Amino acid sequence: MARFQKPAEGTWTEHYPELGRGLVSFDDSISPAFYEREREAIFKRAWLYVGRVEQLTRNGSYFTKELPGVRTALIVTRDMNGIVRAFHNVCRHRGNKLLWEGTPRDETRGSARQFVCKYHGWRYGLDGACTYVHQASEFFDLRKDELRLAPLHCDTWAGFVFVNLAREPRQTLREYLGPMVGALEGYPFHEMTERYSFRAENNSNWKVFSDAFQEYYHVPPLHTHQLGPTPEAQNPEYEFEGAHYQLDGPHRMVSTSGTHKHHWPAEHLYPSEALTRSGSTGPWDGPDLGATLPGVNPSRIPRWGIDNFQVFPNLEILIYERGWYVTYRYWPTSHNTHVFEGDLHFVPARNARERLAHEYAAITFKEYGLQDCGTLDGTQMGLEQGAFRSFLLNDQEILVRHFHKTVGDWVDAYAREQAAAPAR
Ligand code: FES
Ligand SMILES: [Fe+2]
Repeated sequence: MARFQKPAEGTWTEHYPELGRGLVSFDDSISPAFYEREREAIFKRAWLYVGRVEQLTRNGSYFTKELPGVRTALIVTRDMNGIVRAFHNVCRHRGNKLLWEGTPRDETRGSARQFVCKYHGWRYGLDGACTYVHQASEFFDLRKDELRLAPLHCDTWAGFVFVNLAREPRQTLREYLGPMVGALEGYPFHEMTERYSFRAENNSNWKVFSDAFQEYYHVPPLHTHQLGPTPEAQNPEYEFEGAHYQLDGPHRMVSTSGTHKHHWPAEHLYPSEALTRSGSTGPWDGPDLGATLPGVNPSRIPRWGIDNFQVFPNLEILIYERGWYVTYRYWPTSHNTHVFEGDLHFVPARNARERLAHEYAAITFKEYGLQDCGTLDGTQMGLEQGAFRSFLLNDQEILVRHFHKTVGDWVDAYAREQAAAPAR
């Protein structure tokens, strides 16, 4: 029996009748042709989260970002006037990749007063203006003042830096995020500057991994041994029941209890958890963030533990009751491969004990991330086998249903726009 009350309609899925209750196709996760449409319809039109402002610590800071699914490499920088900007990471002269260290495929970061192309030495200010052309008199009709790096639409919200690859985005970033995600604007993300980052190259469609983090139905069976050493700890059905689901445009969220291990008796804990006072839901002794946290736990569920915000298309923000947060991103690299990025953010440790608790949470995160990754190959292979063309989703998997519907809606809308556009 459901522990948390369902909406008046009887189920969360029926609360959002546009989703239907039928079987769902995952052909969108196995088709090379659909992937090509997704690239144009979604990744070249949605606002994409590329990094935090804390990665740009001062004027002159920059980092690069690879978006292989749309064959785009970016430079994100805080220019000498403090303005956060994004550019294609491409030299105006002959198209060399402008900023890289090691190999051109590796991301890099640092600080500089100007960018210098490794090929023929052209230079650019951090505002994108070309400041120096080697042997300029050799060129024809050169107007250096008009030469710039190619800019991208770039905006920040709550310290999250987003870019949009469209020529003219249809919505501002704030319009795009809408009221549900936008309500988090006052959350103290900016205080959580101690960051732990993980990256994985996975053999599945990007949505297959995103699906794994949009429901808690899998938690007791898949993460059994991580939940605790005793049968009682390993079967916390009620802890991971989604208590509140909310959809807002292309975005979605779920609130749940998660485990509150700081309340558990010692026999249900691993010794390392008791020792470090930390684990899969983070350090037990969180920072004092004040009484009201904007945007979180919107339905005020009792014993709230985790909010899981899915920001379309490929960002997840997990906010924990103990005062820390995680972001996940899924970057497609082909129809059946993607790069996963997970970043944990804490208020900086004030002593060794707090640092140990953060480190232990990060290690635990890696473990359960690997457990989630462990099913990916198998799911992708199973879907590609084609034994079944549609699948059953329960009420706890409503966000998966909404996600695939949204992806389909965006691809269909793009196709209609293209069909209606005058021939060029
Ligand atoms: S390609 Fe950059 S200076 Fe020639
Ligand atoms: Fe999981």
